Amino acid sequence: MEITGRTRLIGLLADPIAQVRTPSVLNPLLAARGADLIVVPLHVPGLDLSAAMAGLRRAKSFAGFLATVPHKPALPALCDVVLPSARQVGAANCARLLADGRLVCATFDGTGFVAGLRQQGLDPQGHKVFLAGAGGAAAGVAFALAEAGIAEIAILNRTRDKAESLAARLIAEFPALKTYAADSASPAGFSLVVNGSSLGMQETDAPPVDYAGLEPRQIVAEVVMAPEMTPLLRAAAARGAQIHLGKHMLAGQLTAIADFFTRPEAETLAR
Ligand SMILES: NC(=O)c1ccc[n+]([C@@H]2O[C@H](COP(=O)([O-])OP(=O)(O)OC[C@H]3O[C@@H](n4cnc5c(N)ncnc54)[C@H](OP(=O)(O)O)[C@@H]3O)[C@@H](O)[C@H]2O)c1
Repeated sequence: MEITGRTRLIGLLADPIAQVRTPSVLNPLLAARGADLIVVPLHVPGLDLSAAMAGLRRAKSFAGFLATVPHKPALPALCDVVLPSARQVGAANCARLLADGRLVCATFDGTGFVAGLRQQGLDPQGHKVFLAGAGGAAAGVAFALAEAGIAEIAILNRTRDKAESLAARLIAEFPALKTYAADSASPAGFSLVVNGSSLGMQETDAPPVDYAGLEPRQIVAEVVMAPEMTPLLRAAAARGAQIHLGKHMLAGQLTAIADFFTRPEAETLAR
């Protein structure tokens, strides 16, 4: 697209920054919509986020921000309006500057995960879910799966307190959903197994779940995008389970993120 004096920027906040791929996938989508918006990487160290945002949001050329590691948990406190998705998770990955100068934030990790499942023909409704992880991605996934009508969710996390805290927050919003911190690392008996932790990014990482509990009738899904075939997915495929790649979560988010920045402000504020 041609960059003109009217083009508005969406700053992608990250540290490190070299690995980010969102500009190359989101910019064509925005251009296809005819939006005069461009995503640009902004390398902002973690401790500098507050100071950087205070200045950047005063530049009229900014339409908003995307945030990735390590900025997602800090973003809501720097925004004027925190939409329900970001409040539930305690983190945000998008913030839009409104015409009146307010900054409104949301997160699409969880809705992206569910959209990615659906785009692959998988409906989570009614599933018994075993979720590994209780960080930002896992929390987003848990709330979006609850919203999508799962029947049960067990949460396993290295730091058990965080699994219990996430379970309590889910129960507060979805009291009818059977929700608990898992006592065992075995996903045997569950129909949808999700790795929502960062385990699997390195070949030497510990398994996020006990592979002995993987079964042929399960769907085994990843949030980890690189490597595409994590050790968990390889183990699941070897046991005859259906596997679902982490890249589908990102694909599922792109439309939602483009909508967030391009639809009328009132509609962005209403969700
Ligand atoms: N596909 C997508 O679109 C997408 C979107 C967002 C994120 N992600 C991916 O999701 C993953 C998690 O990101 P996040 O933002 O949720 O990170 P986070 O908030 O830092 O959470 C990390 C999670 O992994 C666990 N963990 C990390 N190292 C561990 C270890 N050595 N042993 C056991 N557990 C460990 C943490 O457990 P503790 O609580 O015990 O520390 C926590 O549950 C990353 O790989 C990220 O790239 C993918």
